[in-house]
Amino acid sequence: MPKILVTGGAGYIGSVTTHYLLKRGFEVIVVDDLSRGHRENIALSGVAPANFHQMRLQQTGALTPLLSGVDAVVHFAAYIAVGESTREPALYYSNNVGGTLSLLEAMARQNVKRLVFSSTAAVYGDPVKVPIPEDARIGPVSPYGDSKAMVEKVLAALDRYRGLKNVTLRYFNACGAEPEANLGEAHDPETHLIPLLFKAAVTGEPIMIFGNDYPTSDGTCVRDYIHIGDLAAAHVAALDHLMGGGDSHAFNVGTGVGFTVMEVLKAVEKVTGKIVPYRIADRRDGDAAELVADSSQLRSKLKWEPKRSGLEEIVGDAWRYFEEMSAVKG
Ligand code: UFG
Repeated sequence: MPKILVTGGAGYIGSVTTHYLLKRGFEVIVVDDLSRGHRENIALSGVAPANFHQMRLQQTGALTPLLSGVDAVVHFAAYIAVGESTREPALYYSNNVGGTLSLLEAMARQNVKRLVFSSTAAVYGDPVKVPIPEDARIGPVSPYGDSKAMVEKVLAALDRYRGLKNVTLRYFNACGAEPEANLGEAHDPETHLIPLLFKAAVTGEPIMIFGNDYPTSDGTCVRDYIHIGDLAAAHVAALDHLMGGGDSHAFNVGTGVGFTVMEVLKAVEKVTGKIVPYRIADRRDGDAAELVADSSQLRSKLKWEPKRSGLEEIVGDAWRYFEEMSAVKG
């Protein structure tokens, strides 16, 4: 049975993917420093307590023995908030780039030659053409996007000179929840649209809509929302590809269909049966008008298809998770 090491397995995407890898029959080891992830996600994902190691990736010496006999690494561990990255750029380079370099060194010491890497649509910055193909210009406009683009460059060099086979997955807007494992989105502070729409619906405090003067159908930004279950399935497909001797590749992970912020707001009202109060605010720095993936490569090369990314299914799963979490917190 292949042995997989997952970094960042206590986070949102990492925990759901870990759950999928275990279901697929892989042996999984999780490394997470719990600086942003949640300890309870470890048990919910199904990982045995003995296979969880609370550790920073920068601890190369401690990380190295954990990679003994590992067939592939799925690397999520990173800071992900675009706004925070503009306020604390050094933190983002040190954690996201520095942590990855240490991980790559530990992998080299143990001769681990397969990696699935979490990247982001943010590497494209303000895209010239939408839907965005993978060979579009890389031009991140935030330290967060830049930190991911830098790692992508390092991986290209390690592939060429060291034979490190890697699949880079550039996520568009990850959302939704995985009801069968009770895993979902719980960032602190929360900056993502769907949980903030729920919060507005429940508290009556208006959400700020960042700009309604973009060149889109209703003036609000268009994004490509991808269900966490479909996103996790893309990681399993990427691992299968690498385990089968496949080559390095970068893939967009999105549906190819975009929705405006107001369309998402309407879907939240429909699913929850509540009014979402809102106010139009200024544009948010760094927001592109439209980010939609051309995901044809992932579909054709890895035989992946989004199955759960209809907007109402996404919002429905996210809403059930939000309600359960609210009940737990009281
Ligand atoms: N939005 C609002 N009000 C809010 C929050 C969001 O109007 O309170 C809008 C944003 O302006 C944007 C859309 O809702 O148009 C989605 O915003 P999110 O913050 O949920 O997601 P982003 O598209 O900004 O970011 C996502 C990922 C990032 C990644 C980026 C790639 O969360 O990690 O896509 O461009 F970098």
